[in-house]
Amino acid sequence: MAVKGNQTMQLTFAGASGVLLAACLAGCTSPVAGDVAAPPDVPVAATMDEPILPLPEVVRVNSARAALGARLFEERALSKDGSMSCATCHPLGRTAVDGLVRSPTVGGGLTGANTPTLFNVVFNFRFSWTGQQRTLEEQVEVAITRAMGQGAGPAAATLALDPVWRARFVDVFGEPPTGACLRAALAEFQRSLVTPNAPLDRWLRGDATALTSEQQEGYALFKELGCASCHQGRNVGGNMFQRMGVMADYFAARGGPALPADLGRYEETHQEEDRHVFRVPSLRNVEKTAPYLHDGYAATMDDAVRIMAANQLGRTLSDRQVALLVAFLRSLTAPDPQPFPGGAP
Ligand code: HEC
Ligand code: HEC
Repeated sequence: MAVKGNQTMQLTFAGASGVLLAACLAGCTSPVAGDVAAPPDVPVAATMDEPILPLPEVVRVNSARAALGARLFEERALSKDGSMSCATCHPLGRTAVDGLVRSPTVGGGLTGANTPTLFNVVFNFRFSWTGQQRTLEEQVEVAITRAMGQGAGPAAATLALDPVWRARFVDVFGEPPTGACLRAALAEFQRSLVTPNAPLDRWLRGDATALTSEQQEGYALFKELGCASCHQGRNVGGNMFQRMGVMADYFAARGGPALPADLGRYEETHQEEDRHVFRVPSLRNVEKTAPYLHDGYAATMDDAVRIMAANQLGRTLSDRQVALLVAFLRSLTAPDPQPFPGGAP
């Protein structure tokens, strides 16, 4: 394999998922060669008029950092009591979700919201259900703190006691473990978790056989009803904020105790107009990420679709319409990310 002057290289591994890797040594807070999250969102000719764009087949990540991040992702020593890793709640063999309504945290509590998938997370414009975090690095800090009982700094200090981890960090960053290096490696690994080539992507690129006729009807309905006004772009969501309950009071109908996450963006801004406003979630691989919604209230795709139609569009759908929309949602299921060279998944 040829390594050009800019230090980026194309690694091809079984079933090539198209992750473009770059190896280099640099301080953990400085940008690195090849450290480009994704190419710009340029519609290909065949998809000019579509609200949904295919995922890029190639994303660039820094291979050394990402491989270190893959290992860290499985490391229980990151949690205060050594009981859980990122993979406990985001198991990579299960689309990075644990399937629970809310997940137990270190210290005996429950997470404030349902655990979302990390596949294609790099294509979201903000992170977490309410979109509070601006970067993946920030989100890593929040994850370690809230779910695992300590910040990245103390977690890195624990790793620094282990000569093997020290050597791995020195190899990649030229320094022993620090909070910033830990955040950088985990963020970089997550940038590699992309799932291109779902049937819808292939169809959008011109393969007319990639969708069943039912799925094509479902996609037409998804656009016609207005689902695509919120779930759109290359991640079929993840690029805007919207209120949960545009046409009806979802929270009154749901009942039950209020969750902190119910507040939506209000939690951060304390502006009344941000109450119940969420980042619109990506629907990629949604077939495999039940239960749904920030509170895990919708157990099945059928439930989620009916709740959406009623609360966001003021529509009651027929069983046939629900079946078509769910068939369409299944066309967003793609093969898992390829095994990462040198580490998980
Ligand atoms: C106890 C379970 C649990 C553990 C452990 C955990 N997470 Fe999460 N993760 C969650 C939950 C719940 C959310 C949603 C939080 C919210 O929106 O309030 C989340 C959200 C995220 C997000 C945002 C996804 C998006 O679409 O915006 C990222 C990224 C993430 N976690 C990465 C990690 C990493 C990296 C680790 C390990 C350092 C980790 N998580 C450990 C439960 C967990
Ligand atoms: C006005 C914007 C808007 C419209 C229109 C809309 N959605 Fe949503 N959708 C959201 C938001 C916001 C959420 C997250 C709400 C929450 O978690 O409380 C969501 C969540 C979902 C989820 C759950 C995703 C997950 O991972 O938990 C599904 C499935 C979904 N929508 C499908 C649809 C379908 C199908 C339609 C059309 C019938 C639709 N949506 C219309 C904004 C919208």
